Amino acid sequence: VQQTKENLFIISQYASDFFKKELWEGEEGKAIGLSYFKERGFREDIIKKFELGFSPDIWDALYADAIKNGYKLQYLEETGLCIKNDNGKIYDRFRGRVMFPIHNITGRIIGFGGRTLKSDKNIPKYVNSPESPIYHKSNVLYGLFQAKKAIRDNDNCYLVEGYADVLSVHQAGVENVVASSGTSLTIEQVRLIGRFTKNITILFDGDSAGVKASLRGLDIILEEGLNVKIVSFPDGHDPDSYMHHVGAGLFKEYLEQSKKDFILYKANVLLAEAGSDPIKRAELIRDIVESIAKIPDQIKTSIFIRECSNLLKVEERILISELNKIRSAKI
Ligand code: UTP
Ligand code: MN
Ligand code: MN
Ligand code: MN
Ligand code: MN
Repeated sequence: VQQTKENLFIISQYASDFFKKELWEGEEGKAIGLSYFKERGFREDIIKKFELGFSPDIWDALYADAIKNGYKLQYLEETGLCIKNDNGKIYDRFRGRVMFPIHNITGRIIGFGGRTLKSDKNIPKYVNSPESPIYHKSNVLYGLFQAKKAIRDNDNCYLVEGYADVLSVHQAGVENVVASSGTSLTIEQVRLIGRFTKNITILFDGDSAGVKASLRGLDIILEEGLNVKIVSFPDGHDPDSYMHHVGAGLFKEYLEQSKKDFILYKANVLLAEAGSDPIKRAELIRDIVESIAKIPDQIKTSIFIRECSNLLKVEERILISELNKIRSAKI
């Protein structure tokens, strides 16, 4: 079993080297891959640090090169780098895309994300490696290998949605940043962060009608006993676009100045939405108390009860009795 895994690590490393070579030395890679990264404002040191690459836009560029170099089809298939279709024809999963290798916590490559360079809406923007014996998406955070030291040093971890966000925030000099890569945050991912810090700061995409939906998913962080702060961005911006929009200096200031505690942020979002509707206000109070009930620490709980009592204009004893109801229902 270990031997198979080792072979999958080796083929993934080989593929990453191939994609890097194509980016820096291939005619197509230089002309459209590297120039794409440059146009997006990514510096060369960042492109190198994250080992970005390029997959040529032909059916079997990686496959042909791999076989020529003695690698086995079996491992190309098990990592999902190559796919055999119904007619037995073998082709590369990643074609004509800029490549983001995904590292595990010790720095070994376990999978890839590939971004299309086309703006055709019918093509998926990102293609990702499938699950494999070495790649379990729900246990991985993109960028953690490059970020872990900075997370510990800063005692905080910034969490973003996408690959590009990690690169840009890192490039701004904020190196304690990881991405959940489009999936909703899992308990395993929270525990992974928890090994380095008890403080998570979420950087939301500003487009988010999804903000409200994402808020619910964040309760798992509270349950793990971690502290959560939120930074949201102006309409239409994600951390990547906003960093390039305002520049590194202002971006860092923005992160510091816009940090809001998650519970209070959530209370404000829901308050704005509920307006003066009494039913909605009752629902939001329950919703907030449910989040507070997830916090294991009693002292923190009582502080949040007080703050929310002020904010929501509800007596503390009402919130406390609601909290106790939720807690006894759970047992
Ligand atoms: P976004 O749509 O916010 O993309 O998805 P992005 O990261 O801002 O991409 P750019 O800036 O246009 O390059 C956030 C993340 O969701 C995952 C990717 O991990 C992406 O970075 N995703 C998104 C996919 O896996 N597949 C997709 O088709 C789209
Ligand atoms: Mn998004
Ligand atoms: Mn988006
Ligand atoms: Mn985005
Ligand atoms: Mn983006």
